[in-house]
Amino acid sequence: MTTPVLKSPALSEQVQALGRLHVNFARVDCLPPEIREMVADPTLYSLPSVLDYMVGNSVIANILHRNPASDAMLRIVYPDVNGHPLTEGLDRFLSRSLSGQALRDRLEFCSGWLADHFVHENARVVDLGGGSGFYAFEALRKKGEVPSGFHWEILDLDLEALAVAQMRSHEADLDGTVTVRKGNFMKDVGPLADYAVMIGVLCGMDKETAKVVLSKAKEHLKPKGEIYAATLLQGAFDEDPRTFRILCNVGGWQLRPKSLTDVLDVFAASGWEVIDVSSERPPHTPGCGQYAIVHARAN
Ligand SMILES: C[S@@+](CC[C@H](N)C(=O)[O-])C[C@H]1O[C@@H](n2cnc3c(N)ncnc32)[C@H](O)[C@@H]1O
Repeated sequence: MTTPVLKSPALSEQVQALGRLHVNFARVDCLPPEIREMVADPTLYSLPSVLDYMVGNSVIANILHRNPASDAMLRIVYPDVNGHPLTEGLDRFLSRSLSGQALRDRLEFCSGWLADHFVHENARVVDLGGGSGFYAFEALRKKGEVPSGFHWEILDLDLEALAVAQMRSHEADLDGTVTVRKGNFMKDVGPLADYAVMIGVLCGMDKETAKVVLSKAKEHLKPKGEIYAATLLQGAFDEDPRTFRILCNVGGWQLRPKSLTDVLDVFAASGWEVIDVSSERPPHTPGCGQYAIVHARAN
């Protein structure tokens, strides 16, 4: 038998802990029996043949293995409910998992909340790491009309994601309302906004990095500006270890799910007064789903 390949030292503590567990893949019929056995086993999942199989048979695993920060995976998983073609075999298993569903629930719940609270007359939103703009377009679709003087700016480093967002903005006749800006939210501050959105950005950061990023986020806002942010909870790994075993332990996606206490600490330590915490899943109480969704005001 081949010796397992050593993983890079960058493995997050949470991914390492998941890697020490036996995970039950017995009924995952889309995987061949030998791959099922290897991926389940803490000593075998890191064999190169397991990685080769996963990235060779799943568009989702392939995207995340190449660029974990990319929002390209979301462009597959979000519209899956509408019958996206990637609904066979391993991609079907991954996108229909509880974690795939959590992403769709997060889009549904957060966009509704944003439509009700941040999309109003003369408000300016900055979407930090907004990717291809799903939250902007879904919030405006739910709102039903564009309030006078409303503006949503998507700030992201990824030109490909921004090109998709710009095309969508044009197609939806929202050219002046949803705009894109290429930049690093850690230094490229534009016109000050009333509200910031930061969804799916803190999930891979350790607590100290998340504090620095959240402190910086305040600089994009007017005094007493508000943020709406969603980040992965440890409960996600506990609830759906199979998906995260494939994407994180095998594929190398360095997620850092946090406890709810840690999330609250991070916001408090970076100068935010937490107004409310919810979850993507009914009954939307903190900890009942895979994400902590925080509404906070800058101190
Ligand atoms: C997982 S995607 C989330 C996209 C979107 N918020 C969503 O949930 O649909 C994370 C995004 O954050 C962007 N990003 C990460 N670090 C950034 C930075 N320092 N400045 C701007 N964008 C950044 C990435 O390019 C990527 O598009």
